[in-house]
Amino acid sequence: MVLIPLLGAAMALTACGNDDSSSGNDTSDDSSSESSSAAATGKVGVILPDTESSVRWESADRPALEAAFEEAGVDYDIQNAENDAERMTQIADTMIGNGVTVLAIVNLDSESGAAIQEKAKSQGVATIDYDRLTLGGSAEYYVSFDNTVVGELQGQGLADCLGDKKANIVYLNGSPTDNNATLFAEGAHSVLDEMSNYTVVGEQAVPEWDNEEAATIFQQLYTAADGKVDGVLAANDGLGGAAISILEGNGQAGKVPVTGQDATVEGLQNILAGTQCMTVYKSATQEAQALADVAIALANGEEADTTGTTVDSSDDSEVPSILLDPQAITKDNITDVIDDGGQKAADICTGKFADLCAEAGIS
Ligand code: BGC
Repeated sequence: MVLIPLLGAAMALTACGNDDSSSGNDTSDDSSSESSSAAATGKVGVILPDTESSVRWESADRPALEAAFEEAGVDYDIQNAENDAERMTQIADTMIGNGVTVLAIVNLDSESGAAIQEKAKSQGVATIDYDRLTLGGSAEYYVSFDNTVVGELQGQGLADCLGDKKANIVYLNGSPTDNNATLFAEGAHSVLDEMSNYTVVGEQAVPEWDNEEAATIFQQLYTAADGKVDGVLAANDGLGGAAISILEGNGQAGKVPVTGQDATVEGLQNILAGTQCMTVYKSATQEAQALADVAIALANGEEADTTGTTVDSSDDSEVPSILLDPQAITKDNITDVIDDGGQKAADICTGKFADLCAEAGIS
């Protein structure tokens, strides 16, 4: 194993350095593994974007990342920028000061992400884009799912729920600052635009994936379409839930299929209740493991195994990537998510969902 030069300093600072940049979750010190076997592979910092654009970051990614780094015996520090790009920059600075040798970020926008990566690079810290590609950034690697395929699955899922009839579709896209949101929308359009029986009657991006704003935006699009909306391409479960709440207010929930993404508890419950037509499952365990593998390779000065490259559309550069396979989930295969450890039946089958779970064979 290769010893990382800054290691001594990193270890010395770990115990006291993280409090300042703690995001209020106060998890950095608790979650840092400082076993001696970790020492040989340096220290990995991960900055998650927020807690509200999707519950996935804290409920799925954080525990999966912790498990992957612990399993690998790597020293790590995971923090959350709470949807504040300045905060992400400060956390990155502190992590670099504390001697991380590899820094992975889920950027809040490409500009701030690229600046963080530039600074890290100037200090000899390698960076990885986790889940979201930083356009114009300098990450060594990109670890994610195939996000165009995510959009295609959403488009096909909506088409399967709508069938051959003529239908008016509204798109609720993700944040305009998230490259993934662009890819999701492109993927969905590539499927649905081919189908001449569908008409797009409204489409809008939801700033910062804000679920409350999504409800307001959807209400506006719904009103503008005179309520003649037959299907909703919502980019994730949170946005889907927002659309469903407005459809409920209009007596249309369950009649108008809505898509989603992340296989969240809420999304899966909505699928069981029949108000959401599908979601897309992206295993946090797989994504976290891929990140841990790449981070360890980088920390050891080795090359990581990749599945291909991703083109950064801002400058046509190619970023070595690991892109995993997403899976479409409907009522028929919710158990796949549970069997894979993506959610627990006990979390989904609460209250009124207990009977629906029994009907769907979920236990
Ligand atoms: C992720 C999605 C997530 C969304 C909002 C995207 O970049 O790929 O899984 O739902 O951000 O956090």
